[in-house]
Amino acid sequence: MTRSFIEFPSDFVFGTATAAYQIEGAAKADGRGESIWDRFSHTPGKVFEGHTGDVACDHYHRYEEDIKLMHELGIPAYRLSISWPRIFPERGKFNQAGIDFYRRVLETLHKYEIEPAVTLYHWDLPQYLQDEGGWANRATVDYFVEYATKVFRELGDLVPKFITHNEPWCASFLSYGLGHHAPGHHDWREAYAAAHHILLSHGKAVEAYRAGGYQGEIGITLNFTWVDSASNRPEDVAAARREDGFANRWFIEPLMKRQYPSDMVEWVEGRIGALDFIEPGDLESIASTIDFLGINFYSRNVVQAGAGNAHLESQVVQPSADRVTDMGWEIHPESLYRLLTWLKSEYTADLPLVITENGAAFRDELVDGEVQDVDRVNYVADHLEAAKRFIDEGGPLKGYYLWSFMDNFEWAFGYSKRFGMVYVDYATQVRTVKASGKWYSGQIAHHRAANVR
Ligand code: FCB
Repeated sequence: MTRSFIEFPSDFVFGTATAAYQIEGAAKADGRGESIWDRFSHTPGKVFEGHTGDVACDHYHRYEEDIKLMHELGIPAYRLSISWPRIFPERGKFNQAGIDFYRRVLETLHKYEIEPAVTLYHWDLPQYLQDEGGWANRATVDYFVEYATKVFRELGDLVPKFITHNEPWCASFLSYGLGHHAPGHHDWREAYAAAHHILLSHGKAVEAYRAGGYQGEIGITLNFTWVDSASNRPEDVAAARREDGFANRWFIEPLMKRQYPSDMVEWVEGRIGALDFIEPGDLESIASTIDFLGINFYSRNVVQAGAGNAHLESQVVQPSADRVTDMGWEIHPESLYRLLTWLKSEYTADLPLVITENGAAFRDELVDGEVQDVDRVNYVADHLEAAKRFIDEGGPLKGYYLWSFMDNFEWAFGYSKRFGMVYVDYATQVRTVKASGKWYSGQIAHHRAANVR
């Protein structure tokens, strides 16, 4: 079965990724405050079978052995996130123990020569800020900048790469509009205000980082879903364009072109009224120069006109069951190549791009101490080949972080979806490297050897 390894340029970085709430557990340890995901997951009916991140992979207590395992697999880079409510458990109240934990984690990574990339916001907003409107409230921007500035100051010496936000689309539209993620609201006006404030907080954090004169790089991670129209019918083409505007252009366009896409502004204002939460100077801040763009890519959508997504009057066509992951997401590596090419030509030009997440959930089974996740090996290899094609054509793609290092709390799906290259037995917390983890480790060893030659 084994897939052959792929050649990458010598400076290409292979890594793996996780996020605080999904792996840490220790929800009440060392003064951590409540986040919107604690509240949401403890609200009946919100998460699969009532699962919560209270214990998760217990990484808070097992970080040393987890990092040691990364080292044994030869992984050169690791993307983690910081839990805001560990650092500011109450408004304006700094918690040294929170910083101390991340210092220990970062120092351990350095000890094993694993390069960290740190995401400041991977969705765990302090609940006390949600109580005042969360991201729909403009004041949250200032609290984020206070938190970011503190992290830069306390940990900046150990972090070569900061990512302000993970997937603003999920943190706003999926959370305040579609209601699938915390705080679970269904209000499109709130959703667009939240998206704007998240982008603004990104821009202001970048400004603070530059003002601090730090040595590292700073960027943002967006999730992209490539969109194809189901047919050439004008109504399907228009629906697909709206889906693309909603999923992709609403975020990349202000960041790179200092404006929201005009076709979408017209559509959105027709539904929620004037976008009067945009204030003078906001778009300039949002478009602050970044050092790289993080890209999370999983799938594409084929779209037609319809009622499935009422907000956009569009409908996603179900992909055929033989080419989907356990999330029901279509496996379509060609769309990663198309996405990268489109981003470079329309928005990012020579800006370095980094795939900060890519991976797949499958129904893994632990049999005789092994997990033969052949589908995941193929998924990863196919996406690496698509990425390589972009690089061969001169594309400035600098790295790839596999989602995820280990199975973890998959948000509204709880522990029912497994994305890891390492299998986690949640009853015993025993970790077992899957076939995909071994393959990825082999790919990295191959890369390293090729560049020593
Ligand atoms: C992304 C999230 C990440 C994980 C993967 C499967 O949207 O950033 O935390 O849940 O999806």
